[in-house]
Amino acid sequence: MNDSIAVIELTPTGLRFLDQTRLPGEEVMVATADHRDVLEAIRALRLRGAPLIGITAAYGVTLAARAWCAAHSAPADTAAALTRTQDFLAYLHDVCESFAATRPTAVNLFWALDRMRCLLARPLAPEALTPEALAPESFTPEAFTAALEAEAHAIHDDDAQRCAAIGRHGAALLPRGAGVITHCNSGALATGGEGTAFAVLLEAHRQGRGIHVFADETRPLLQGARLTMWELRRHDIPSTLITDGTAAMLMRAGRVAAAITGADRIAANGDTANKIGTYALAVAARHHGIPFYIAAPLSTVDNRIPTGADIPIEERDPAEITMLAGRRIAPEGVHVYAPAFDVTPAELIAGFVTERGILAPPYGETLAAALS
Ligand code: MRU
Repeated sequence: MNDSIAVIELTPTGLRFLDQTRLPGEEVMVATADHRDVLEAIRALRLRGAPLIGITAAYGVTLAARAWCAAHSAPADTAAALTRTQDFLAYLHDVCESFAATRPTAVNLFWALDRMRCLLARPLAPEALTPEALAPESFTPEAFTAALEAEAHAIHDDDAQRCAAIGRHGAALLPRGAGVITHCNSGALATGGEGTAFAVLLEAHRQGRGIHVFADETRPLLQGARLTMWELRRHDIPSTLITDGTAAMLMRAGRVAAAITGADRIAANGDTANKIGTYALAVAARHHGIPFYIAAPLSTVDNRIPTGADIPIEERDPAEITMLAGRRIAPEGVHVYAPAFDVTPAELIAGFVTERGILAPPYGETLAAALS
């Protein structure tokens, strides 16, 4: 079977992406040229996973820039060209803000938007917006759009390379013949490459280490059952689906040698936000003397945030818990608490698998050194 997964692609006419809410039943590619559809796709988790959210936002900003250029033809005189560029930059600023407001926890979103904004920032300085400065072709909305498009592709390619390096560094952590637990989805469906934690599993499998993956179903939106199992099957990796509550029991039975997940945001001290249920998995792993690893690119580290207490945690619509597959499963009117993520304290993490190798404690120091 061809095991490469087409997740997202910018074409000359728009963006094509795999609607992950339809998996595993249907593989539906959506095509759009409207960045508002991309905003909706991020909010609705049609495209999700920390690195992929950043890549998606970068492509979404590019779509908005393209559409603006198509709707605003270039004027002949220089003064009007200046106003046009100012209008374009103000519009793109608002578009970046709207992407930044989609999902608060995954820092890769803000990391990617910062890279896009950097391309727009210099000419925003008033002294740069003179008719003379506009004369070069590089200061037209079309030139900005070309630069944004190139940057979006670079963000995508960059993440693919980081994923490959994470897989190479992490595979040796998994003992031969090990049972390995993972949570949520951290594969091609969550990144620009073959994944973070999933890339480690995949590389270990390709090296013939004989691992067996236990995938938590990952309540409430079932990214483990729907997406990770789909990816594991595509790669023929021996695997078993479990409910989230089964993990501790499997550990006690001696069937698990390691646990590994991705991350949505890593604070400067190593505290790590990931899908709700990750913290419970890490606690169970510590109780049973099993190493719990986080695999993530360094773009997931937010060194402006000292500890996990400062990581913003997204809360989702209560209906994601009270409903299942379109059917109500809790009484009408119940109180619901629906955080999408939790924070695993750094002391429960045995190591970070990054594109620069495995980081050991003290994470305040090793993360800072890896970022420098
Ligand atoms: O709500 P989601 O599906 O976007 O959450 C995704 C996760 O929590 C992943 O584990 C995380 O983004 C790491 S994936 C590379």
